[in-house]
Amino acid sequence: MSVHPATVTVELPNRSYNIEIAHHCLKDLGSKLVETGLGKKSNKVLVVSNPVIYKYYGETVNASLSDAGFSSTSLILPAGERFKTANSLQKIYDAALNHRLERSSLIVALGGGVIGDMSGYAAATWLRGIDLIQVPTTLLAMVDSAIGGKTGINHPHGKNLIGAFHQPRLVWVDPEVLKTLPAREFRSAMAEVIKYGVIWDRDLFELLANCDRLDQLRYVKPDLLQSILYRCAKAKAEIVSKDEKEGNLRAILNYGHTVGHAIESVTNYRLYNHGEAVGLGMVIAGAIAVDLGLWTQQDQDQQMLLITKARLPQTLPSGIDLDAIAASLSTDKKVEAGKVRFILPTAIGSAELSDRVTTELVKQNLRKIVT
Ligand code: NAD
Ligand code: GLY
Repeated sequence: MSVHPATVTVELPNRSYNIEIAHHCLKDLGSKLVETGLGKKSNKVLVVSNPVIYKYYGETVNASLSDAGFSSTSLILPAGERFKTANSLQKIYDAALNHRLERSSLIVALGGGVIGDMSGYAAATWLRGIDLIQVPTTLLAMVDSAIGGKTGINHPHGKNLIGAFHQPRLVWVDPEVLKTLPAREFRSAMAEVIKYGVIWDRDLFELLANCDRLDQLRYVKPDLLQSILYRCAKAKAEIVSKDEKEGNLRAILNYGHTVGHAIESVTNYRLYNHGEAVGLGMVIAGAIAVDLGLWTQQDQDQQMLLITKARLPQTLPSGIDLDAIAASLSTDKKVEAGKVRFILPTAIGSAELSDRVTTELVKQNLRKIVT
């Protein structure tokens, strides 16, 4: 089945850019850069990736860049969140120095959120900022991390504590690369997809509700996948265009993340991966919103249905330390003036920032999902 390519523009003063979504477009990256004049002046490109992704897609990207006349070099960093560090960043700077990147050169991030965030931060800071091209290879990166300009690395004492806003010049999405993505990565990113349906896009929510299963690529038809990528990109683009630096509105993208981060941290990042924890956070945030009379039990049930279709966890193991989760909420990066900034759904397709959520209310609802 052929699926039409789609373009979404992130509208920003003087820095608008496109997210292009097209099957088999990876091989056309170089010609697209030439067409848009990106990197033309210095002709130098640094591709940053990891060994798994590079094995699958490195050759296609490099051939595309050299066929288009670019001098490209690649840096392969070890895979995984634990390598999202100052040490890896230093390696990107070293590669930039060795390849003599100039102000008009490009960094291409070929990977998921880890590679995208690190390469983005390197691009934000090398020579006080050079152009970044995001080529996301995970579902999470396609719908979220490659869009919107948040870049950074982890500090040994906290995730994403070091970073900068640095918008890419282009986000180049080839959905074909999802065919090699491990099933758990696909499934957990579905939590973020459902998130957009709940907080912003009711039509997306309904599209998802009409699908039997959302947990594996093979159950999601190409045209539905294209709609998911398009609608999520559009949702994120609209939110970022209205509030680039997270003054207020952009915080709704953290729906499910407050409790999710706390669960991830209390279970030492071993039991659940990020999307799974966000899914659990959405279960709790929805239940709290029902308790506060902000949204209906019926809407909560519909959200639960999507979480079930994505085969995301909905319960916590007995013995989990709920006090530790509650305590961890107050150390979350989203704390402002001592209050946890909680995102609560108000209807399918809308959410708001609330300071009415007490740790006791969170604990009450956590208790309900302990098995
Ligand atoms: P990831 O980058 O670690 O990738 C997940 C795994 O999938 C890795 O092992 C990777 O090697 C593998 N992989 C990637 N693409 C593949 C492919 N096409 N085929 C086979 N294997 C592939 O994880 P992620 O979920 O993409 O990103 C998580 C990171 O994103 C976190 O560090 C998080 O903080 C960050 N993030 C950033 C933002 C933002 O706005 N900047 C938003 C959300 C998350
Ligand atoms: N992923 C949250 C944001 O981009 O703001």
